[in-house]
Amino acid sequence: MTQILIERCPRVETERLVLRKWEERDLDGVIRMNGDPRVMEFFPSLHSPEEACRYLEISLQQQEKHGFCFPVVEDKETGAFLGFCGLNVPGYSDPLPCEPCVEIGWRLIPEAWGKGIAVEAARFWLGFGFETLQLDEIVAIVVVQNRKSRRVMEKLGMRYDPAEDFDFPNVPVDDPLCRHALYRISAEQFLTQANG
Ligand SMILES: CC(C)(COP(=O)(O)OP(=O)(O)OC[C@H]1O[C@@H](n2cnc3c(N)ncnc32)[C@H](O)[C@@H]1OP(=O)(O)O)[C@@H](O)C(=O)NCCC(=O)NCCS
Repeated sequence: MTQILIERCPRVETERLVLRKWEERDLDGVIRMNGDPRVMEFFPSLHSPEEACRYLEISLQQQEKHGFCFPVVEDKETGAFLGFCGLNVPGYSDPLPCEPCVEIGWRLIPEAWGKGIAVEAARFWLGFGFETLQLDEIVAIVVVQNRKSRRVMEKLGMRYDPAEDFDFPNVPVDDPLCRHALYRISAEQFLTQANG
């Protein structure tokens, strides 16, 4: 059964990228990415190498449980670790208002920013989510001030309703990282876009 689930996260190639599941060898990349203040601007803290190691362990566990956990993005030409992008079943300390759901999310090393890489990877995973996994809807959550990430959601054709903004569980309401926006895309919206 586990093998069937893990195979739900295939290794695929897009124009410039390899998208694949997590492996132990990704640790160096995760330490660099999660320890970079530019990358972690909208997260509570930078990761120490030990925290990054724990982060990878949790990603491997979640991947085993659900078949995917924000899969890895690699440069097709060089094999370099660029970050992650893809589907995830939320497992935060408390449920999000949109749960149960499958979310899509991304985090890349700064050298990979501004080249449309998040959009290239995310388009594949939306298609996989709707066409292979037969999901009805995929959501994305983001700190309201994170314009770069919101722009990716918009470029993917995800819909935003300010009435659905919410406070992230267990973050103090006066913390600038508390308020989150929710974006949604349905199978119908995605398939209409893809075919039109
Ligand atoms: C968010 C992130 C994955 C975007 O990846 P990316 O591959 O650079 O995305 P793109 O190249 O498609 O660029 C995204 C868009 O944001 C736009 N953008 C960049 N900075 C912006 C800003 N400050 N305000 C508004 N738009 C901005 C870019 O111009 C681009 O839009 P365009 O193609 O219409 O010009 C990347 O910046 C990142 O890893 N950030 C740190 C981690 C993070 O915040 N993750 C998201 C958590 S929800």
